[in-house]
Amino acid sequence: MGISIMPNSLLLLLIFSIPIISATEYHEEEEEEKRGIFLLQSSKQVVKTDGGEIRIMRGDNRGRDIHSPMHIGFISMEPNTLFIPQYMDSSLILFIRIGEMKIGWIYKDEMVEKQLRIGDIYRIPAGSAFYMVNVGKGQRLEIICSIDTSEGLRESTFQSFYIGGGTYPTSVLAGFDMRTLTTAFNVSVDELASITERQKGGPIVFMTGSETNQLNRWASLMQLKQKEREEKRQFAEKKYDNGDDDEDDDDDREHKEVKEWTWRKLLRSFLVKENKGAIRSPKSYNLYEKDPDFKNNYGWSVALDEHVYNPLKHSGIGVYLVNLTAGSMMAPHVNPTATEYGVVLSGSGTIQVVFPNGSLAMNTEVRQGDVFWVPKYFPFCQIASHSGTFEFFGFTTSSRRNRPQFLVGASSIPKIMGGPEMAMAFDVSEEKYKRIIEAQRESIILPPWPETKEMKGEELPLFINTAASE
Ligand SMILES: *[C@@H]1O[C@H](CO)[C@@H](O)[C@H](O)[C@H]1NC(C)=O
Ligand SMILES: *[C@@H]1O[C@H](CO)[C@@H](O)[C@H](O)[C@H]1NC(C)=O
Ligand SMILES: *[C@@H]1O[C@H](CO)[C@@H](O)[C@H](O)[C@H]1NC(C)=O
Repeated sequence: MGISIMPNSLLLLLIFSIPIISATEYHEEEEEEKRGIFLLQSSKQVVKTDGGEIRIMRGDNRGRDIHSPMHIGFISMEPNTLFIPQYMDSSLILFIRIGEMKIGWIYKDEMVEKQLRIGDIYRIPAGSAFYMVNVGKGQRLEIICSIDTSEGLRESTFQSFYIGGGTYPTSVLAGFDMRTLTTAFNVSVDELASITERQKGGPIVFMTGSETNQLNRWASLMQLKQKEREEKRQFAEKKYDNGDDDEDDDDDREHKEVKEWTWRKLLRSFLVKENKGAIRSPKSYNLYEKDPDFKNNYGWSVALDEHVYNPLKHSGIGVYLVNLTAGSMMAPHVNPTATEYGVVLSGSGTIQVVFPNGSLAMNTEVRQGDVFWVPKYFPFCQIASHSGTFEFFGFTTSSRRNRPQFLVGASSIPKIMGGPEMAMAFDVSEEKYKRIIEAQRESIILPPWPETKEMKGEELPLFINTAASE
């Protein structure tokens, strides 16, 4: 976003706002139980109101030499609630798990709105003010998001700055003195107090009664008459009908006008029922509608990179979704370019992760809601339990095309490399090597062991090199 044409007040906020989430943070006892080093186990409820909650699975494995660069956020909102306007010091990639919502945010200095539904992926850049409304009739809204901490003020934490607010949450505006604010807004102290002291409901509030009144108060405070709104809208339409993508080529007079009313637009944005036209918001992408990149009888997988969905490029984050049938396995593989995060959406399964030196790092059963992560270069596999379909979704730390290298199966490195060199590396005859390596005809997603074979399997030592594993 071009800072040069930011509304003054928003610019001030960006520069002088004080961190406030620490004051309103709701601490929950952190889970002590250690289930595996590549599970995110530090779950913290950062917001809890009648209207909803936000839970963060933190990616800081303190005291370990492997650093996790991402947090995973879970936002849930009751029907007819508003997540009040704020901005964050981290970029968010949203995935709509359940429900339907309207997101409003400042894009290229304009207020844009976007309807999102189940399966949609959407990106909110760090520093962009946004709000979210659950518009699903009688339906809860559940969102899973990646929180990229690399742009934050402090490493491995993140910060919300509430723009709307009162006593809870505190608006960043509260940090300014009265004179500054009354001058900036050009209103009286009383009028100002009518919007800055009312909110007590927390960051997620029901949009009924008093809140609706409050929105009306904001509007009357801004003294926006219908006529004026219309003029402004026409102005906006004219401006953006030119379809220009660059931000800085308007003449000075237009600049000034934009400056003066963008801030108002943010505050009254709730009131404008249809904000169609004007500037178009960036597109969303529906993960459930994408054709699988790989599919066989045992499951499928879908990956979203910057070539498919361009906004991912700005965050350098990829998205994927995998669905394994009961007992099936994503063959052992390595991500050479990205660290991977997985959130179990449904079913249960096992995640095995191996250190690059060939010893076991984690072998853990996971179920719905668990979050695992796998650093790049670490071999791993995911195995669905026999009880049913295992579905997981997640983020990778690269928006480039990720080319996982498979270690087992028909399209694996040992198979493709083949030849006497490989046989020699395992110190077996080429003939024997071929027999073993070609026994598996499937690739990438492998079928389950037949039950009887599995029974026999239990008598086997769990790992090849028992000395190397714990
Ligand atoms: C402030 O408000 C007064 C009264 O509504 C108006 O006359 C004046 O032009 C406003 N000043 C600015 C800078 O908007
Ligand atoms: C996962 O795959 C199974 C079997 O193909 C299917 O029944 C199920 O609906 C899939 N789940 C999702 C979320 O697509
Ligand atoms: C392999 O590497 C891990 C992590 O660095 C270490 O904890 C483990 O002891 C190593 N195992 C062997 C057999 O070298």
